[in-house]
Amino acid sequence: MASGPHEQWSSRMAFIFAAVGSAVGLGNIWRFPYMAGEYGGSAFVLIYIAFVLFIGVPVLMAELTIGRRGGMSPINSVKKLAKAAKKNPRWSWIGGLGSFGGGLGLLSYYSVIAGLVLAYIIKAAMGVFAGFWADPSVAALTGDAANAAVRVQSAGEINGLFGEPGVMIFWHLVFIGFTVFIVARGINAGLEKAVTYLMPALFLILLVLVGYAMAAGEFAQAVRYLFEPDFSKVTGETVLAAVGQAFFSLSLTVGTMLAYGAYLPKNISIHKSAGIIAASDTAVALIAGLAIFPLVFAYGLEVDQGPSLIFETLPIAFGAMPGGAIFGTLFFILLAIAAITSSISLLEPAVSYFEEKQGMNRWKSAIFAGGAAFVIGLLSVFSYNEWADLMPLGFVGITEVNGNPATFYTLIDFTVSSIIMPVGGLLLAIFAGWVVLREDMRDEMGLPEGGIFKIWHVLVKYVCPVVLIIIIISGLT
Ligand code: PFF
Repeated sequence: MASGPHEQWSSRMAFIFAAVGSAVGLGNIWRFPYMAGEYGGSAFVLIYIAFVLFIGVPVLMAELTIGRRGGMSPINSVKKLAKAAKKNPRWSWIGGLGSFGGGLGLLSYYSVIAGLVLAYIIKAAMGVFAGFWADPSVAALTGDAANAAVRVQSAGEINGLFGEPGVMIFWHLVFIGFTVFIVARGINAGLEKAVTYLMPALFLILLVLVGYAMAAGEFAQAVRYLFEPDFSKVTGETVLAAVGQAFFSLSLTVGTMLAYGAYLPKNISIHKSAGIIAASDTAVALIAGLAIFPLVFAYGLEVDQGPSLIFETLPIAFGAMPGGAIFGTLFFILLAIAAITSSISLLEPAVSYFEEKQGMNRWKSAIFAGGAAFVIGLLSVFSYNEWADLMPLGFVGITEVNGNPATFYTLIDFTVSSIIMPVGGLLLAIFAGWVVLREDMRDEMGLPEGGIFKIWHVLVKYVCPVVLIIIIISGLT
């Protein structure tokens, strides 16, 4: 069976499912709602959408085009195009920074969080959330006092999991195992087959959950929260967070879309595909908000709880609602599906490189790269327990990042999403706008001079670099 970098997506639909599957992930259902909550709701949402349109879509088009033109792993595709333009082949480092630093670095902790999701599927199904309310310390109380007491119960549940590194490692291993298994089977028999079943299931579950939120929650309040513009809360930090989230959510700058572009048949339109991917990704993030916030509001819970929104706040609501065990289970299954169709895309760039460069077979490459992500992920697991007080950069005085203790987990997350992603995005925009031959990009996109191509070119050549430089500098100062 043919396998490796030269397989192609078997249809446009298969590619769109795979790319949307990569884009739609924990970033949409876990990260986007909590960031919207932290950064003030609608203003963050609007800024985010502007970044998706003017920075995200152009970079996405650039990655797919460079990938298809190169037809190889991210590192080698970038190298090939640099050589074709008679420029320094070291530009390939942006492919390397993405595939290894970004892709494997991100996968290492993505899998740890996805592991928590797997553990929560079981908790939800076993009725653990309803148990919070039934606890004698809660049942005797009403109103705010009951809410406060149930919160202690829910926090105890997630903290209990954090306190057991063995259990976290088990779920982390299970999740990486699934990821390696799918990727090892190749593009057609592995990635494509998985997304063809999983993506329709994901959309279906999401719609069921929004229906449930409409019926059982404070839907109108959630709509106002997400869509009524209020710019009083916008700060420089909001803007940096929004651009980071746009790259994260569209799976940009870590090699994924370069790799997926390499398997893209020539007759599939890149600009239309990019539009569909970005629109679906944004729609899922907003719909996820409309599935989550109504439940949170219905119980007077707070929306600005950061990452614990999903693991601490939401279970409280599920525990109290009619049918909460079923819908809670469905919710965590939704998250798991979203996570696995993304994690396979995080592993693919490194695997395709090992295959190509080292001549390793696909199984070996997948186990090797997945194994590396698993081991690095242990640093994140221990950041929640054994090493919670260990600040690896403490010796140079870094003990806090954005108000969080600078554990391994915080540092890896910060390096990937606040350094590698914005800087990688900047380098990619410069590469696509200034280094690669303009004609090569136009030819590969199959677009006539002027029109869409011209708008794209101005955006990657001038707008993306200028905006990203401003954001990076303001983020560092
Ligand atoms: N886009 C994914 C999400 O929103 O969860 C995360 C991700 C996947 C980022 C793949 C980057 C990537 F290459």
